[in-house]
Amino acid sequence: MMLQAKNMSKSFGGVHAVSNCSIKIPEGKITALIGPNGAGKTTLFNMISGTLPSDSGSVRFKGEDITNMKVHERARKGISRTFQMTKTFKNMTVRDNLRLARETTDDKLKIALSQVRLQGFLDHIAGELSYGQGRLLELARSLLLPHTFLMLDEPTAGVNPQIRQEMKQILKDLRKEGKTVLFIEHDMDFVMSISDHIIVLNEGKLLMEGTPKQVRNNPKVLEAYLGK
Ligand SMILES: Nc1ncnc2c1ncn2[C@@H]1O[C@H](COP(=O)(O)OP(=O)(O)OP(=O)(O)O)[C@@H](O)[C@H]1O
Ligand SMILES: [Mg+2]
Repeated sequence: MMLQAKNMSKSFGGVHAVSNCSIKIPEGKITALIGPNGAGKTTLFNMISGTLPSDSGSVRFKGEDITNMKVHERARKGISRTFQMTKTFKNMTVRDNLRLARETTDDKLKIALSQVRLQGFLDHIAGELSYGQGRLLELARSLLLPHTFLMLDEPTAGVNPQIRQEMKQILKDLRKEGKTVLFIEHDMDFVMSISDHIIVLNEGKLLMEGTPKQVRNNPKVLEAYLGK
């Protein structure tokens, strides 16, 4: 197991965003975290990456208890993530955006850019990239840091079909390299076509987990989506 989160909970005022969720993320696989809007996916993500303190629960990463570690300590261990809202700086070049993630040589930056099919964009102004290219730049930033375990919050939201296909191939390439990927996604075709394992949240609780086939055939999942 790459990561194991146990009995995670988080409330915002009276809202139980995540209630007593336990999940396991298998090593070297692509795992999707799905569920209707407001199900608690991003909240669970934030508690795992450490950007949000949990009310209760524990997180183990490669067998080590990281529950009380700060974000940067988790990052140093190899937990790398992107955010649901793009956090690139529009008036800076692609190079400078990448260097904010990591001070390194142009050669290293170019490798990360080619991993996300943005080779040749080093000197471009980030604000002039298309929305989808902006998402790819965000992904490139997460690849510059240690990323044994890569967490992507809706990497394909709002991107065009061509970049969506590229994103699929990029995730497959990462899996081939032995990386572990956890991603949040609303596009079911995308989820079903690429995931080894799927975790379904609903109203802050774990609804089920399993293979794409098991998830597709579970009436509770359909009900959760239609209920909204
Ligand atoms: N910082 C916050 N303050 C107050 N309420 C919050 C906060 N963050 C999340 N919530 C609430 O917690 C619940 C879960 O939100 P979360 O963002 O985790 O959902 P999600 O599954 O990521 O949804 P989406 O698919 O729309 O991104 C929602 O009801 C949301 O309004
Ligand atoms: Mg979210």
